Amino acid sequence: MTDQMTGKTCIVSGASSGIGLETAVGLAKLGALVVMTSRNQAKGESALTYVKNRSGSDNVELMLVDFASLASIRGFVEEFKMGHDRLDVLVNNAGGINTSRSETLDGFETTFGVNHLGYFLLTNLLLDMLKTSAPSRVVSVSSRAHLRPKGMNFDDLNSEQSFSAMGSYGESKLANVLFTYELSRRLEGTGVTANCLHPGVVRSGFAQNNGGLVALAVKAFYTLGRPFTKSSVQGAQTSIYLASSPELEGVTGKYFDNSAETPSSRASHDEEEQRRLWEISEQMTGLVVSA
Ligand SMILES: NC(=O)c1ccc[n+]([C@@H]2O[C@H](COP(=O)([O-])OP(=O)(O)OC[C@H]3O[C@@H](n4cnc5c(N)ncnc54)[C@H](OP(=O)(O)O)[C@@H]3O)[C@@H](O)[C@H]2O)c1
Repeated sequence: MTDQMTGKTCIVSGASSGIGLETAVGLAKLGALVVMTSRNQAKGESALTYVKNRSGSDNVELMLVDFASLASIRGFVEEFKMGHDRLDVLVNNAGGINTSRSETLDGFETTFGVNHLGYFLLTNLLLDMLKTSAPSRVVSVSSRAHLRPKGMNFDDLNSEQSFSAMGSYGESKLANVLFTYELSRRLEGTGVTANCLHPGVVRSGFAQNNGGLVALAVKAFYTLGRPFTKSSVQGAQTSIYLASSPELEGVTGKYFDNSAETPSSRASHDEEEQRRLWEISEQMTGLVVSA
């Protein structure tokens, strides 16, 4: 353990598995108070024990939230604010891919709803606390999959007209980058930075939620492709770097891969798309009610 992050409070969403779990270990090892989120009590408790054991820190908490429910996100933020007086780092990490179309409790296509609207609402509801704790950081786990779409399909964000797993996943990860760039602009002068990242191709629990052949195929790929993939510990390193490195003080609005700033897709730099996605997301999450 070191004391590099002592006195700092970090939230890591989706910390019950994979990259989020190891990000929580890494930040706890640096001395931060780490609030891990899980949607499942039992899985969360076993993750909490793992993080405490692996980090040697007792300064770790578990809170429950389901990012497929706007009410659950709002409830989590309320509870977090009642129990904590600062937030130095928010790591938006919870998410995944869905091979068949489903909907969140609020009727959004699940991949877009959890991967993008989840990050969007959680961050916005915590912005006041991030600002009063500044200098502070928002770190959002995107993916190289954001390179695939040429832009957001604003006519069918909920994939009602057509759905494909990779299409929806790629768009949600493009949304993470568009969101980060717009957020960093909106936060200019506040001392809160916003960056995003590709964690690598990581042997985590990714895609296992789909069960059956898909889960088996991904596991087989992890075994056969082992030399070209990362462990979850390795996959967490860019998140930990963005959350904690003193080198990144004041650095904002950037995309990273392997802990190095890397160009993101051309589509991600479209400021009109960034603004449009922000405004639509405000309405979808009820942050702003349309007239
Ligand atoms: N693995 C890769 O190669 C890769 C590559 C690029 C980007 N990423 C991104 O990395 C992030 C972490 O994924 P991972 O690879 O570590 O996969 P993972 O092991 O499946 O972890 C995903 C985490 O998100 C949580 N989560 C999913 N849906 C949720 C919901 N509705 N409410 C609350 N929590 C939810 C999961 O909770 P449960 O444990 O309850 O399922 C789990 O804790 C994701 O944003 C993913 O898109 C992964």
